[in-house]
Amino acid sequence: MKLSSDARFSTICLHAGQEPDPSTGAIVTPIYQTSTYVQQELGVHKGFEYARTQNPTRFALEGNIAGIEGGKAAFAFASGMAAIGAIGTMLKAGDHMIVSRNTYGGTFRYFDKVLTRAAISFSYVDTSDLDEVERAITPATRMLFVETPTNPVMHLTDLAAAAELAHRHDLRLAVDNTFASPYVQRPIEFGADLVMHSTTKYLNGHSDSVGGVVVATRDVDIDWLRFVQNSAGAILGPFDAWLVLRGTKTLAIRMERHNANGLAVAEYLAIHPKVRHVHYPGLPTHPQYALARRQMHGFGGMIAFELGSLEAARRMLNAVRLCALAESLGGVETLISHPATMTHASVPPGRRAELGITDGLVRISVGIEDLEDIRADLGQALDRV
Ligand SMILES: Cc1ncc(COP(=O)(O)O)c(C=O)c1O
Repeated sequence: MKLSSDARFSTICLHAGQEPDPSTGAIVTPIYQTSTYVQQELGVHKGFEYARTQNPTRFALEGNIAGIEGGKAAFAFASGMAAIGAIGTMLKAGDHMIVSRNTYGGTFRYFDKVLTRAAISFSYVDTSDLDEVERAITPATRMLFVETPTNPVMHLTDLAAAAELAHRHDLRLAVDNTFASPYVQRPIEFGADLVMHSTTKYLNGHSDSVGGVVVATRDVDIDWLRFVQNSAGAILGPFDAWLVLRGTKTLAIRMERHNANGLAVAEYLAIHPKVRHVHYPGLPTHPQYALARRQMHGFGGMIAFELGSLEAARRMLNAVRLCALAESLGGVETLISHPATMTHASVPPGRRAELGITDGLVRISVGIEDLEDIRADLGQALDRV
């Protein structure tokens, strides 16, 4: 089942990294739920010695996601944060990283509270303004870490221009592609060196596994990440690897529906009298709509919208029935949340205000239910505002 070099996206999602199981021909990669492997004789084995280092189910997933993102190799971790932690190990004491200002709250917390203890410094800048990024570069800068769209206010970074800038200054460009998914955008095609995902989100897609992955393009980074994955040991377990592999098979068709429902819900909210503003890159009112059309294939299922006050947000969120009030995103079911008190609670209030994460902001991860049912639920909940 060899993929041809011109295989297209859905075909890659289904087949990359996967071969029929060598012992039985099983078409689905089995869950190799084992901690070790029996060796034929001293020093003679089948390439598998210990399951932190090697696991066929994890390897199948890593090959699959490397193919999907168009990278050379991928490494799967126990969570998206563990994947970001592995990227963090590429820097050492004295190094500096430039980060998208409104990055995911957990990423900010890890950089700000953990990596600064190792004498790594950070500048948080609006990466939609590359002049601002360039001004933040110092002789110690090693990496530009961007999220596009950002969580939750959906600012975009021009990936091709960011890669050009990073490489001109000999920096790595790392992209957290969790929010968009590789169906919507593949940063390596624009020049990124590293792409990471919380596989918890669109790649798995079914809200039943926590995991992360880093995709790399340069041999030196691949060698380092393989070493760190094994030596720090925050690997993705075989059952979770199998669940994500099952998820990536349907990534393309799920994303088509997320894109269609996302745009339709954003258009619905944009003209709703109770909604003051909608953040969605697929609306012509988004300040980077032209960039979104150039860089993204569809605009994804993530929307944030402003209701004006905590009380208004509370009334709406307490009234939803079909949409689930829950953290996380990228699952088949519609999830709705309140960034200021949920996903971004670890960001200090003053900083949240600067980032536009107001108390009246609501985030929705539009699922793949029938559009009419999502709209009806949002409509009845907005009636309570
Ligand atoms: C954009 C983004 N990056 C990284 C993470 C962290 O991933 P995980 O929760 O799998 O550790 C999240 C989690 O919500 C996220 O939204």
